[in-house]
Amino acid sequence: MAIVSSNIDQSDSLSSKGKKRVVDGAPLADEKRSFREDGLRPKCLDDYIGQSALKEVLGIAIQAALGRGDALDHVLLYGPPGLGKTTMAMVVAKELGVKCRITSAPALERPRDIVGLLVNLQPKELLFVDEIHRLPRIAEELLYPAMEDLRLDLTVGKGSSSRVRALELPPFTLVGATTRAGALSSPLRDRFGLIHRLDFYNLRELQSIVRRASELLRLPLNDDASIEIARRCRGTPRVANRLLRRVRDFATVQGQKDVIDASLVEEALSLHCVDRRGLDATDRRLLELLMNSYGGGPVGLETLAAALGEDASTLESVVEPFLLQIGFLKRTPRGRVLTQVGKSHLQEQQKI
Ligand SMILES: Nc1ncnc2c1ncn2[C@@H]1O[C@H](COP(=O)(O)OP(=O)(O)O)[C@@H](O)[C@H]1O
Ligand SMILES: [Mg+2]
Repeated sequence: MAIVSSNIDQSDSLSSKGKKRVVDGAPLADEKRSFREDGLRPKCLDDYIGQSALKEVLGIAIQAALGRGDALDHVLLYGPPGLGKTTMAMVVAKELGVKCRITSAPALERPRDIVGLLVNLQPKELLFVDEIHRLPRIAEELLYPAMEDLRLDLTVGKGSSSRVRALELPPFTLVGATTRAGALSSPLRDRFGLIHRLDFYNLRELQSIVRRASELLRLPLNDDASIEIARRCRGTPRVANRLLRRVRDFATVQGQKDVIDASLVEEALSLHCVDRRGLDATDRRLLELLMNSYGGGPVGLETLAAALGEDASTLESVVEPFLLQIGFLKRTPRGRVLTQVGKSHLQEQQKI
């Protein structure tokens, strides 16, 4: 694997109070720096758990491309952070038996950045562009003919004597990943032959992911313990792996030698204030405020933000999405409302 550039600038997983959240789907600073996640990444399609529709589509396309001796069509993967987009790009390269060159759109600021990458590609190689919705305009325009006609239009010379020279490229596969498919320009989107959304994982899949990671980390867990972690990770493998590491830390400090059980998981994760459904302190503060001070709502976003001492846009983009997704919170024209399930969950938590 060739790391061409790792300027992966997802603003760090901060809670609205500026604290890192253990349940954030985006990588935390240390996870980015050390590429620590790499050890747990599945390497081939068979090891990649879940996303069965995506695996089937890609499996067939890969086989067909290999059979024809051709490059695989360009692939666009989209979905929330931590669901396995980067991992899938590497898996595809491995299955194709080619190198995966990795870059991130914000790193392609100057025309020569993308030109340099493209002219150095070997036939059928894979170029992975993370956060592709952030591609600078100039890079995007260079990519159009490259993706479509394997041609790079280079301007040589300056001023009135400048001309455009076309350079032929070897067949290659571009894999783009984004958390915001809607932010992609339609000409760019249209140049991908395979476009696929990654979904949140179900409990069974998450449990398998936890089991697999615990074997790799040589951390014996029983079934109750792995399902307990699976329940708390917000449908996201990256969070599952992170929670597992926190459990390992706790077990080490406790001098735990036996197989880890659910009560140890519970104890370890309650230190991080992560509850049974994967809610952390920030989530609960919001829901409790709604319940205790506003009778369940509706309350306007600005009012909530002011009462919590948070920034309204952080609340909306970082805290609310998961609560909406699991149906604890509802957005109505008159403001935010705590749902009955949300309320029951809070009441249960208070009893514990
Ligand atoms: N399908 C999967 N099976 C097992 N582990 C996975 C899977 N998808 C993701 N992971 C784990 O989650 C971590 C984050 O995945 P990544 O591909 O970096 O997510 P994304 O690029 O979508 O943000 C990886 O390090 C990997 O260990
Ligand atoms: Mg990624």
